[in-house]
Amino acid sequence: MNIKTIQPYNLVIFGAKGDLACRKLIPSLYQLEKCNYLHKDTKIIGVGRANWNDNYYTQITFQILKKFIKTDIDIQYWKIFKYRLSFCNLDVLEIKEFNQLKNIINQTKNTNIYYFAMPPSTFGNICTGLGKIKLNTEPNRIIVEKPIGISLQSSKIINNQLGKYFKENQIFRIDHYLGKETILNLLALRFANTLFYNNWDNSIIDHVKITVSETVGIEGRWGYFDQIGQTRDMVQNHLLQILSIIAMSPPKNLHANSIRREKIKVLKSLRKIDISNIHQNTIRGQYSSGIINGQLAPSYLDESGANKNSSTETFVEILVYIDNKRWKGIPFYLKTGKRLLHKKSEIIIYFKKIPIQLFNQKNHDKTLNKLKIKLQPNESIEMTFLNKIPNLNSEYTLKNTKLNFNYSDSFKNKNIYDAYDRLLLESMRNNQSLFVCREEIEASWKWIDSIIDAWSYYGIKPILYPSGTTGPKLPKHTS
Ligand code: BG6
Repeated sequence: MNIKTIQPYNLVIFGAKGDLACRKLIPSLYQLEKCNYLHKDTKIIGVGRANWNDNYYTQITFQILKKFIKTDIDIQYWKIFKYRLSFCNLDVLEIKEFNQLKNIINQTKNTNIYYFAMPPSTFGNICTGLGKIKLNTEPNRIIVEKPIGISLQSSKIINNQLGKYFKENQIFRIDHYLGKETILNLLALRFANTLFYNNWDNSIIDHVKITVSETVGIEGRWGYFDQIGQTRDMVQNHLLQILSIIAMSPPKNLHANSIRREKIKVLKSLRKIDISNIHQNTIRGQYSSGIINGQLAPSYLDESGANKNSSTETFVEILVYIDNKRWKGIPFYLKTGKRLLHKKSEIIIYFKKIPIQLFNQKNHDKTLNKLKIKLQPNESIEMTFLNKIPNLNSEYTLKNTKLNFNYSDSFKNKNIYDAYDRLLLESMRNNQSLFVCREEIEASWKWIDSIIDAWSYYGIKPILYPSGTTGPKLPKHTS
């Protein structure tokens, strides 16, 4: 049934031996197989530097699945999946070697989707290689992973390299948060429900908190992480994407261009943070040792491979204002960090106090009405509001109570798919709405660059916070 809508593709994975391919891409493709989303003629071509034949790659892939999928391998589907696999031994620095890939691809009439699961420093070479063998033309497309640069300038260089061989409508830039079920649901929540559609601006919302808190440290990625830090690793992409979806005005329709247009307007309206307001609006932190889940965790500087003098942040909180009519004066708090007390990603919308006081303020909770959207784990939406406590008192006494929508209760038999399952499928459907365009990336970098420049101007060092705590606080953080 599903198969009719998806055409046959060659899914070419550059970096087939790497972590991303093993952990995410192969398991997701296998999941799509199990859901019958792969056309019978679709091929998966692993590309890497290894003298492997197809048979050996198939054996390796079986081991990868055994290690990284949560269930047993279903032999019925594996038998179909394994015939899709082939391997191309290719060094992307050697342009001549792309002819080997051409020979494999030319055995089919499929459109090609190239997944660049390799560092951005190789993107230019891969594009040149594909251009040389003339396999870069439409409808072929590419999927690229973050980081797209570490600054506006470096992202432009990468985007130019991609743009030299591929048009913007052939480029699918991944932000895996955009493939998460709960992020997609934000559009439904905001634009399919009168209650929220009509109550989503500065007349009713008091402030918003967006938090992505992790309990993990940097998981052996010291070399990579220390060059960039939490702000570039998480805020420039995931948190700003969430913010732009929460704050955007209704798009004309659900097409990529309409959604992107509205998100870009938000990103371009972010109030600049620079040397004039950096101290009030941001705080950086770095984890020291502490207890996580009953275990002693080392400090960032004691992680293996660490440079003991590093002043890279593993935590950041930023107070953001959006200078447009809808959000004038409303604070948005973006917070993210590693080795924190809880693993949770959530958005909390706090509503303003009502302007009248019918009830004796002494007799009720003072906290504001709030809408908590739990993105992960325990995906749910929770509304907190005041109710009368049942009693025979002459005066009303009010208490905050919760109205809860829980994915696991309301959609009992529905799977929550991994973000990569959806993103791979949407790339085959040629739907760019879940991918980030060049203008979004560049607007985000421009805003982030100014923060990082201001930190460096004053030499602002991260504040140490013990692992397993909630991290440092913004100055005069009142809410
Ligand atoms: C990645 C970051 O993009 O997102 C990681 O590079 C981070 O540092 C990860 O841990 C978090 O993703 P998720 O889906 O677990 O919230």
